[in-house]
Amino acid sequence: MTELKNDLFLRACLRQDVERTPVWMMRQAGRYLAEYRATRARAGGFLNLCRSPELCSEVTLQPIDILDADAAILFSDILVVPEAMGMELTFGVGEGPKFPDPITCRADVEKLPVLNDPTKELGYVMDAVSTIRRDLNGRVPLIGFAGSPWTLATYMVEGGGSKNFSKVKAMMFNEPETMHLLLEKLADSVAAYLNGQIASGAQAVQIFDTWGGILNTRDYKEFSLQYMQRIVSQLTRENDGRKVPVILYSKGGMGWLEAMADTGCDVLGLDWSIDIDEAKARVGDRVALQGNMDPTMLYAKPERIRAEVKDILAKFGHGNGHVFNLGHGITPDVPPEHAIEFFKAVREESVQYHR
Ligand code: CP3
Repeated sequence: MTELKNDLFLRACLRQDVERTPVWMMRQAGRYLAEYRATRARAGGFLNLCRSPELCSEVTLQPIDILDADAAILFSDILVVPEAMGMELTFGVGEGPKFPDPITCRADVEKLPVLNDPTKELGYVMDAVSTIRRDLNGRVPLIGFAGSPWTLATYMVEGGGSKNFSKVKAMMFNEPETMHLLLEKLADSVAAYLNGQIASGAQAVQIFDTWGGILNTRDYKEFSLQYMQRIVSQLTRENDGRKVPVILYSKGGMGWLEAMADTGCDVLGLDWSIDIDEAKARVGDRVALQGNMDPTMLYAKPERIRAEVKDILAKFGHGNGHVFNLGHGITPDVPPEHAIEFFKAVREESVQYHR
C-alpha cells in the first residue's frame, strides 16, 4: 500500500495534532476551472464524465495540482444512487438534474430495489475510486461521498430541484409510512454504496444532507437524522489499518449540532450561518469541525478573502479538530485565482495556531 505523504486532513478529522490546518472545498472539481470544462467537453457531458473512471480521476486531481488541496474528493454525483435503483436521470445543458418519472405513490416506492452489490450496480464509481487512488499515488487522502436519504428523496419525489418542496413535504405529512419506506431503502442502499467506496479505497466519507435544513426540528430528527444514523452505524470504519472518518453535513442544520454529533460521526460539516467558535463550544470536544467560510466570499478581492480566513482561524483558535472548507460548494463563476488565494491563505495563516 502506497504511503500517504500528506495526512493532515485525516489527522484533523480525528482531532490529532497537525502542523497547520488542512483545507479542501466542496465542488473543488467543477465548472469554475477551465481544465474541468475541457475534460467535461471531451467526455461529452456531465453524466458521461461520471461514468468514465479515467476522466473522473483526471478532474479529481485537477484541484490537487491547481489549489494544492489537502484532500481529494471522488468526482461523481449523489444522484447516481437513485439512477442505479432504476430511475432515469438526465442533466440538460445548463440545467440541474431531472428525474422524468418521479416517485408519486406507495407502489413506486415498493418497486424500488435496495442496492446491495455496489461493484455490480455502481461498478463505474468503484472503478473511479480505485483509479483515483492509483493516480493520487499517496499525495493526499481520497474522500468518498453519498447524499443523505432525505436529500435523495427530495430529488426523487420532486423530479429535480425545487423551490418550496411541495411534493416531498406533502408525501411526508400525508403518507409518513411511504416516506419511511423510501428513506429506509435509501439508507440501506447508501450504506452498501459507501462501504463499497471504502473497500475500493476511499479514506474518509462525507454524507451530504443538503436539504435537511428545510425541516423543523422534529421532522429533521425523524426523516433525516435517523436515516443518517442508520447509515453511520452500518459503515466499515477502517481502511489500510487507519480509521475512516465520517463527515456529516446538514446545510441549514446548525441548530442540531449536538444531535448530529450523537450519531457517532467524526466530523460535522458547518455551513456559514454559525460562528465556528460557537460550534466548537457546543460540540468541539466530541467531533472535529469542517468549514465554514461563506462561498460567496470568493467573489471578494484576495485581501478580503485572506482577512476572512484569518477571522475564521482566530475564532477556532488553538487546538485540534478543524478542517478548513467553505460552508457549501464553490459557485461556477468564481475566478480560479481567488480559490488559489483562499487555499494559500489557509496554509500560511494557520501555522501560528499549531505551535
Ligand atoms: O465536491 C466535488 O468536487 C465532488 C463532486 C460533486 C458533484 N456533486 C459534482 C457535480 C459532489 C460532492 C456533488 C454532490 C451533490 N450533487 C449534491 C450535494 C452537495 C451540494 O452541492 O449541495 C447535490 C444536491 C447534487 C445534485 C446536483 N448535481 C445538482 C443540484 C447539480 C446541479 C447544480 C449546479 O451547480 O448546477 C448537480 C450537477 C453537478 N454535480 C455538477 C458537478 C461538478 C455540475 C454539472 C456540470 O458540470 O455541468
